[in-house]
Amino acid sequence: MSEPLFEVDETGEDVTRAQTAATGELSPAEKAATREEHLKLAEGALVRADDLVAGYVPGVNILRGCDFYLQDGELVGIIGPNGAGKSTLLKTLFGLIPVRSGAVTLRGEDLTGAPAHKLVSMGVGYVPQNNNVFPSLTIEENMQMGVYLRPKSFKERFDYVIDLFPLLGERRKGKAGSLSGGERQMVAMGRALMMDPSVLLLDEPSAGLSPAYQDEVFIRCRRINATGVSIIMVEQNARRCLQICDRGYVLDQGRNAYTDTGQSLMNDPKVIELYLGTLAKAK
Ligand SMILES: Nc1ncnc2c1ncn2[C@@H]1O[C@H](COP(=O)(O)OP(=O)(O)OP(=O)(O)O)[C@@H](O)[C@H]1O
Ligand SMILES: [Mg+2]
Repeated sequence: MSEPLFEVDETGEDVTRAQTAATGELSPAEKAATREEHLKLAEGALVRADDLVAGYVPGVNILRGCDFYLQDGELVGIIGPNGAGKSTLLKTLFGLIPVRSGAVTLRGEDLTGAPAHKLVSMGVGYVPQNNNVFPSLTIEENMQMGVYLRPKSFKERFDYVIDLFPLLGERRKGKAGSLSGGERQMVAMGRALMMDPSVLLLDEPSAGLSPAYQDEVFIRCRRINATGVSIIMVEQNARRCLQICDRGYVLDQGRNAYTDTGQSLMNDPKVIELYLGTLAKAK
């Protein structure tokens, strides 16, 4: 890394952004990550977060003024180093972590602080990073859990899921706990899709999978998106994520560092140097 993304002065304040702004050195993707640009572009968004501050331990903020939006039909990727707050952002959007300040809206409705079940009832599905299947239940039972709000739609929804993941149909009577990591990921995504969500929040769907399965997951995500489901995807596999997403955010230390189309971020020299180079080497 040639220069740190964030510097703090003696008061602990982040001054890097102010400095670069003062010298007019913001790249297009850095400029797009500023609040002014967010306010212009987030108009009418399906999911929107404004100036989010959230954390786990009192007095320690993990999200430190994060802006985000997802327009209807988009597939948006969120990348960034370990501990940047990517999972925390998804959890906060889904109502699992209290919002300390800022706002979360869905289709213009203020849902700041709303519990997860309210978001589920409004068509938001969430697939967490870990422990995302019921291992002692069969695949079919896992799918039933996904449709508990509308049990009558089970067959129709299961047919849709099997069409995306045929293996889940073939192995429907098998225990989810007996599946490989890649197969479990399909179960987790399938279960979230059972309730016919309009938005899917995916936390590292390709993590821990073999390269072939990883590719499969990205292809499935594009297909799911093509069926009309808007997707927010957090990924460690940054390059692959940027290749398939419409837009991407680079999150660093709880704030947006860069945002642009996936293609532009992949070709941004600073993003390559700071995030893609090291991540690519770590693979
Ligand atoms: N349950 C928790 N209690 C306290 N601190 C937590 C908790 N979960 C996460 N954190 C802290 O919040 C910070 C951000 O974590 P988060 O999981 O959001 O990062 P991430 O960007 O998803 O990282 P990774 O790429 O490793 O998944 C980290 O410093 C982490 O230690
Ligand atoms: Mg995470």
